[in-house]
Amino acid sequence: MSKYQAPKGVSEYVPDRSSHFDYVRRTIINAAELSGYELVELPVFEDTELFTRGVGESTDVVRKEMYTFLDRGGRSITLRPEGTAGVMRAVLEHNLDRGQLPVKLYYSGAFFRAERPQAGRFRQFYQVGIEAIGLADPRIDVEVIAVADRAFRDLGLKEYVLEITSLGDERTRSDYLSDLREYISGINLDEDTRERAALNPLRLFDDKREEIRAVMSKAPILMDYLTPESAADFDKVQELLTVLKIDFTVNDRMVRGLDYYTGTAFEFVHKGLGAQSGIGGGGRYDGLMSQLGGQELSGVGFGLGVDRILLAREAEGLVLPANAGLDLYIVPLGVGDTALALAEELRGRGVKTDLAFGDKALKGAMKSADKSGARYCIVLGADELASGSVQLKEMHTGESTSVTLSALANELIRRISDYGEHL
Ligand code: HAM
Repeated sequence: MSKYQAPKGVSEYVPDRSSHFDYVRRTIINAAELSGYELVELPVFEDTELFTRGVGESTDVVRKEMYTFLDRGGRSITLRPEGTAGVMRAVLEHNLDRGQLPVKLYYSGAFFRAERPQAGRFRQFYQVGIEAIGLADPRIDVEVIAVADRAFRDLGLKEYVLEITSLGDERTRSDYLSDLREYISGINLDEDTRERAALNPLRLFDDKREEIRAVMSKAPILMDYLTPESAADFDKVQELLTVLKIDFTVNDRMVRGLDYYTGTAFEFVHKGLGAQSGIGGGGRYDGLMSQLGGQELSGVGFGLGVDRILLAREAEGLVLPANAGLDLYIVPLGVGDTALALAEELRGRGVKTDLAFGDKALKGAMKSADKSGARYCIVLGADELASGSVQLKEMHTGESTSVTLSALANELIRRISDYGEHL
């Protein structure tokens, strides 16, 4: 073992688990693409101010969790703690908001928050997110939720719930916040908490201390302040979710960890994960673009936590589907060059193929075949080349079938298509 270890709290994936991780990520991306979202690939670091302005100064993310440093030119740089602010920056910078609306984008990659590491909470973690920008319509809120729900269903997850809320419009929030501030001014708070509450009093709902929780349980609730327009939008969201048969519960005390939310907000919570149970969250953020210097354009999106979704699949005992691994493993007996040429031919036809290299004895090579996780295996030696046929062995059942070398590619392709689309 090397004396070097990965930094504390980062998530990393090596085989075999990395294939499972990749399967989760690709399945989410597939759901996004099915609904017309296009890839945006953004830098993992941005000017610090983008996040302080975009995510909000009252949030834990900005106050305590950002990886911020001066680059060699003395500029303050931050490793992205989330994706939405960067997407807005890119949309504005590339004038995508001047084209056809809504702009529908997805992203996938690493995010960074200096949190206290624990199960399911990492300092470097992975999200796939989508953002739909430029349409203020409850239908697009529901589309966004439906993309996440489709991804979870495609991934075979069952033990999760969707919680939704509405944070209302500007009037809702100004009426509500003034009442909430008044309520909070009557509570005895330490300096730091008072400061946080002054920036965003909603943060107090997030406080884990028992005494604060107790007083906040009696605080006014935002949902009671929804304007008729906001209430109608929220009703529409619920009606459409019902039409689409997406189960949900209304959580009138949900507090998202980022400040930019307006209107619909939601979280997906998995029951098998313990404290870090949020497998994805998102909502509408109608003021964000103008906050960042752009035009008044609405937006809605989500970020799904790939690491936690993988943990959720494992908690539910789900394993990788058969089509995710290798299709064929070739064990050559003294005919290494021919075996490599055959592997290349099969790979060219789309059959995922690997082979044993070097002069392994048959037993050792069969062990490698087992370990490779391939669905099928063939032994290729002088006898097989002379007869022009091989025994195609299905590893799972141990069953062997004689197949001519010339028919091998077609036979494998037929069998592969029987076990589903290739990932
Ligand atoms: P978020 O709720 O902060 O939202 O993060 C989304 C998801 O990322 C969480 O539900 C969780 O699964 C995962 N996640 C967050 N922090 C960690 C961590 N430290 N370790 C492991 N997983 C984590 C956002 O980031 C918003 N940008 C989502 C959004 C997009 N809202 C609108 N558009």
